[in-house]
Amino acid sequence: MKHLISLKEQSADDIREILDIASDLKKKYRAGIATNLLPGKTLVMLFQKNSTRTRLSFEAGMTELGGHAIFLASSHAQLPLADFSDEIQAIMRFADVLMIRSMHVKDVLTAASYDRIPVIDACSEKYHPCQALGDIMTMSEYSGGLKNVKKIAWLGIENNVCNTLKLACAKLGIEVVLATPEVHPPSVDKELNAQASATGKVRRAKHPKDAIADADYVHTDTWLDAEYFNNRTPKPEFSAEFERRKAVFMPYQLNAKLIDTYAPKARIMHCMPMHVGYEISRDAIDHKNSVIFDQAENRKHVQKAILLWLLGVNINPAKHRKIGKKR
Ligand code: CP
Repeated sequence: MKHLISLKEQSADDIREILDIASDLKKKYRAGIATNLLPGKTLVMLFQKNSTRTRLSFEAGMTELGGHAIFLASSHAQLPLADFSDEIQAIMRFADVLMIRSMHVKDVLTAASYDRIPVIDACSEKYHPCQALGDIMTMSEYSGGLKNVKKIAWLGIENNVCNTLKLACAKLGIEVVLATPEVHPPSVDKELNAQASATGKVRRAKHPKDAIADADYVHTDTWLDAEYFNNRTPKPEFSAEFERRKAVFMPYQLNAKLIDTYAPKARIMHCMPMHVGYEISRDAIDHKNSVIFDQAENRKHVQKAILLWLLGVNINPAKHRKIGKKR
């Protein structure tokens, strides 16, 4: 049984295979060729935290594959009452694939441990493999192939998104340079860091300008996750930590001046949601080098590929039906 959790368990060839499927699916989608490859299949999407892109991309992706996705908010199910292990075993009886956005990856690992159906980590405190794969797809497209993606930089906090992107890029032979004054403590995975370091492709720079020099792509992410906020302001219990992080991370902000001065050819990426004016400036989001919204769209093509790859479904059956071109 295949699961997609941290990308520690996937080889470079596995990653390339998923990316090839995603690229093929995107071409077919753009050409208006239907890919009803998962008829009668159900994806259960269990959310313990909020989401825009992950929910939409998996749900729309499953529709396009001819299957069905069920959104289950943890707080609206019986999970607050019962043992997670009992509830998740029951949940998996209704699904062909389970996707979990969890507060703690241990819940994802518990579900996967039953080895009943493929389980996807759709962003835990330590990993975000779906985001990493979508990001690499985007970089490959903009560079005219994966072999042309030579170097990426990551600015700001070293977190779950950084972990999986760093590992996947390093496995693929892409140089990764981090300018990260701090690690988000819950995201630390020593085994993942050891795997990434063993490739010899990961290094650290003290200053953002040194990290982004000659980079093809510059990434960043929020310094605090959405659950720390209400109406775009930190919840009272986190406001002191937010102020502390502001002081630490502001010098690592991804902004137009930094790009224009030190890496004018580098493309700007952010997995979203963005906290504008903090880890990224408005002028970076709207910059001519920004590929952020294509990056968001590619989540859908990659989720579809992940589902097919996990289920071992061939993307090229004898015939596809024409359904009309898409923009
Ligand atoms: N990048 C990402 O996972 O977005 P959501 O939190 O909106 O799903």
